[in-house]
Parts: sequence; structure tokens; C-alpha cells
Amino acid sequence: MVTVLNHPLITHKLALMRMETTGHKDFRENLDEIASLMAYEVCRDLPMEDVHITTPMGPCDTKMLKGEIILVPILRAGMGLVNGIMDLIPTAKVGFMGLYRDEETLEPVEYFAKFPKELPEGIVLVLDPMLATGGSAIAAVNKIKERGAKNIKMVCLVGAPEGVKAFEEAHPDVDLYLAALDDHLNEIGYIVPGLGDAGDRIYGTK
Ligand code: PRP
Ligand code: URA
Repeated sequence: MVTVLNHPLITHKLALMRMETTGHKDFRENLDEIASLMAYEVCRDLPMEDVHITTPMGPCDTKMLKGEIILVPILRAGMGLVNGIMDLIPTAKVGFMGLYRDEETLEPVEYFAKFPKELPEGIVLVLDPMLATGGSAIAAVNKIKERGAKNIKMVCLVGAPEGVKAFEEAHPDVDLYLAALDDHLNEIGYIVPGLGDAGDRIYGTK
């Protein structure tokens, strides 16, 4: 299932990020804020368990989150979504999936992977601002499934229709969340209108 979070606050902050005049400090700050807003929606159906607690007024039957939440940013740009989500889920554990996209072939190349041991039982949120061809997200989820994860959600900022289609075909069991669905990919595999190279804009490289 694909969910596009068409929320005015998200769309406004994303417009600021898209502007070519926005520098890396403001780009990062807006990304943090959007990540928090997205987390609120992405976590809407997280599993809960019954708990019995005591308030200052007496006993209370209520619910709390059940299970470990594991964030897996796709390096580098996925790191830009971690802090904003951690603000809402401070107990989340973090794994790392190192992938870069070969600029000629547009194929993902893996260079690092490290995950918490709870990955198979955890609720795994895979993070990457950009879903262009979908190759990186598909490869990351392949790897995470190989390591035993069963409950996975893919969280991206901007998606291209081509990437959404490819991801849904490869992983129909993984819910995909986007802040915006853009128009198309250009001839060198960049999302249009998009926001340019997310990693470079977050870290001020290039
Ligand atoms: C970008 C982006 C995604 C990937 C998307 O990363 O953050 O991981 O490209 O493209 P795809 O959907 O066609 O695979 P990049 O390879 O530029 O690495 P970086 O994050 O280190 O800059
Ligand atoms: N990676 C990016 O950072 N931006 C795009 O538009 C496509 C891939």
C-alpha cells in the first residue's frame, strides 16, 4: 500500500527544501521537522499491548507500544530522517544500510550493513528521502528481509512514479509512505521536480 501524506505542514516545509536557494542548514532543519510529522502517521498502526498501571488517582488499564522499533537509514541521505523520528520514538534502535547508486548504471552498490539483533522481531522503518528508480529501496528491503525482518515499512520523502511502481512490484507486502509523489524521472535518473541530490543538499557536499 502506498500512502502519500498530503498534509499542508509537510507540503510547505517540503517546498522550502525544494527551493534551490535553500542552504544545507535550513534543508536539514526542515527535513528533521518533516520526519517527525511523517513518523506520527507512519506509526498510526503500531502494535500495542495491554498494561495495568497506577496513576496518582488509582489503578488504570491502558496500552503501550509493543516490540522494538528499528530505524534503518539508507546511507547517506537516509540519516537525514533519523533525528526527527527519534524525537518521537527515543527508544528506537538503529541499523545501517550503506548503498550508493552507480551514476552510470543507476544500480545500487552495497558497501555496509549492520543491524540490531532484534531485527527479525522488530518493526523496521527503512528510511531514504528519495525513491527514484526504486533500486536502492528495493535492495535495502531485500537485505533486511534476508536478515529475517518480517514487519517492514518504507519511509521516503519524494517518490517518482517509476520508483513507486518498481517498489510495489518487488515488495507488495511492505507499506510505502511518501511526503510527495512527483512527476517523473529525467534522463539521468533524477526526480523531477524533486529537490536535487538529497545527500549533497543535507551534507553540503558538491
Ligand atoms: C540517493 C538516494 C537514494 C537513491 C535513490 O542516494 O538517497 O538512496 O539515490 O535512487 P534510486 O531510487 O534510483 O536507487 P545516493 O546513491 O545518491 O547516495 P548518497 O545518499 O550517499 O548521496
Ligand atoms: N537521488 C537523489 O538524491 N535525488 C534524485 O532526484 C534521485 C536520486
